[in-house]
Amino acid sequence: MNSFLHWFVIVVSIGSFLGCIWLIWWASKKTEGESTEGEVTGHVWDGDLAELNNPMPRWWLYMFYFSIAFGLIYMVLYPSLGNYKGLLGWSSDGQYQEEIAAANKSYGPLYAGYAKMPVSQLVSNNKAVATGRRLFLNYCAQCHGSDAGGAPGFPSLKDSSWLYGGTPEAIKASILDGRNGSMPPMAAALGTDADVDNVANYVMSLSGAPHDAGKASLGKAKFAVCGGCHGMDGSGNQAIGAPDLTDANWLYGGSLGAIKKAIQNGRSGKMPAHRDFLGEDKVHLLAAYVYSLSQ
Ligand code: HEC
Ligand code: HEC
Repeated sequence: MNSFLHWFVIVVSIGSFLGCIWLIWWASKKTEGESTEGEVTGHVWDGDLAELNNPMPRWWLYMFYFSIAFGLIYMVLYPSLGNYKGLLGWSSDGQYQEEIAAANKSYGPLYAGYAKMPVSQLVSNNKAVATGRRLFLNYCAQCHGSDAGGAPGFPSLKDSSWLYGGTPEAIKASILDGRNGSMPPMAAALGTDADVDNVANYVMSLSGAPHDAGKASLGKAKFAVCGGCHGMDGSGNQAIGAPDLTDANWLYGGSLGAIKKAIQNGRSGKMPAHRDFLGEDKVHLLAAYVYSLSQ
């Protein structure tokens, strides 16, 4: 918090407290010339509905004083005044770190035990897979879907088609260190808009999708510039995450429009690294869960 905000929060908070105290004091004091207690104030409605001058009930007033005292004590103990840390030294981040440490302490040995077993063996351990699934729902589902079925731009992890390989080692490497498949815009390398259209039709033909056969045969030769990454036959290259274009399985969609968009703008999917964030033991269990999906 910068120093302006720091003082702003302090002035506004203390100011509201003083304001409340003043308001109560003002409302409970007698003023000269006012009707005395129990008398009619002079306000009468609907013929006989009169307002009497009665003070606020004591208990009501004490409740105000009590909440003010509670608020002041709270502000001294907890971080509430700008950058002031509070006498108790509590912070939401500190509490979070403590909870993480406690969880790691109680679950750590469990994960460490599983980490000693190879993924191929964990797959048939229902408890391990269930724990891996819980981790997946916490850390991976927001991108890959709660059923790991993926979404446009986020690969499905339950089919047998892999960008980077579906062995336990490849899956674990994907999770530990992340992946960044990168395809540059290729329209300029192909030439004209017609060339882009032709190559896109050729790509459609590779998986047997409906396409213009004339355009596809014109695009075939131009596909050579793509072959360096996707393979001359279009079957992909897992070393760089270049997708197989011959299966009917698409990361971004298999329409002519989606394929042209890939050629014109390029594509760059990013899978974040989890090595530091989750640690190797949890990733091992996650790899077992992901591996189990396609087995
Ligand atoms: C911020 C979104 C995001 C999160 C969170 C995320 N992923 Fe991914 N993941 C991706 C993207 C995008 C790709 C594809 C990368 C590419 O296009 O090169 C990917 C790729 C992968 C792959 C490689 C798939 C293949 O076909 O080779 C695996 C395995 C994987 N993720 C598992 C996980 C697991 C397990 C988690 C949870 C720990 C996770 N991901 C969390 C976005 C995410
Ligand atoms: C430098 C390597 C490279 C070249 C050259 C390249 N690509 Fe790609 N391409 C990739 C990578 C890597 C991806 C995956 C991007 C991602 O993970 O986000 C990809 C993705 C695609 C996709 C999306 C596939 C899907 O499943 O949705 C299509 C379509 C595609 N490329 C077609 C082409 C065509 C056509 C050419 C030639 C004009 C070409 N690529 C040239 C590396 C390349």
